[in-house]
Amino acid sequence: MTQKEIKKQVKSKQRVTDHGEVFTNEREVNAMLDLVKIESERIDSRFLEPAMGDGNFLVEVLNRKLNSVDKKYKSVQFEWERYAILAISSIYGVDILEDNAIECRNRLFKIFEDRYFNKFKNNCNAECKRSALFLLNRNILWGNALDFTNPETKKPIIFSEWSAVNGSMLKRRDYIFKFLVEKTHQFTMFNDEGNVGSINEPVKDFPLIHFLKLGIDDTN
Ligand SMILES: C[S@@+](CC[C@H](N)C(=O)[O-])C[C@H]1O[C@@H](n2cnc3c(N)ncnc32)[C@H](O)[C@@H]1O
Repeated sequence: MTQKEIKKQVKSKQRVTDHGEVFTNEREVNAMLDLVKIESERIDSRFLEPAMGDGNFLVEVLNRKLNSVDKKYKSVQFEWERYAILAISSIYGVDILEDNAIECRNRLFKIFEDRYFNKFKNNCNAECKRSALFLLNRNILWGNALDFTNPETKKPIIFSEWSAVNGSMLKRRDYIFKFLVEKTHQFTMFNDEGNVGSINEPVKDFPLIHFLKLGIDDTN
């Protein structure tokens, strides 16, 4: 391993001591993703990185998904946008350090933005970029993956599931991360009817929204 690689993998000794922060290099990331090659290239396969750092795995997943979008939806801009947004919507991450979460979001957005621009130049649509940003803000979170809360507010981490419906529409359902992970909770929770609550029950269910309208207001 060269000195350059060591620098890129470690931000500071303190962060390594406090949080075990050593980033994985690109070659290893790709070798690992190749173990699940088909899933890593499938546009709507869901990936969650519970200790994502600044996103070395997630940026490669996004690149692979966007390669698939490029191959399948070469020339029709609307279709490229729809599937690129679907690709972003299926990528999730958490890190205990806020700066990592911010950097990860920025890296993912830049990949999307650069590839979008390379393809459609000045025809890029501001609505599509807003939707991409909205999804990244919702899916890439600052949080502690051991106690499932935000380190500052101590509020539970909530993830949004996004599903494509009728072509251009998206359905959002919000779930408590802790309950998704600790399946035993389904036996101790009760829902409004007094029945055992299921981990499959969202804490919030949103109306359908067009994929280019995400982030247009606070409701979706
Ligand atoms: C070994 S690094 C790996 C980063 C990234 N997955 C990669 O391979 O490049 C571990 C990461 O986990 C984060 N981390 C440590 N404890 C955590 C926790 N309880 N919840 C979420 N993230 C945590 C650190 O901030 C660090 O970014």
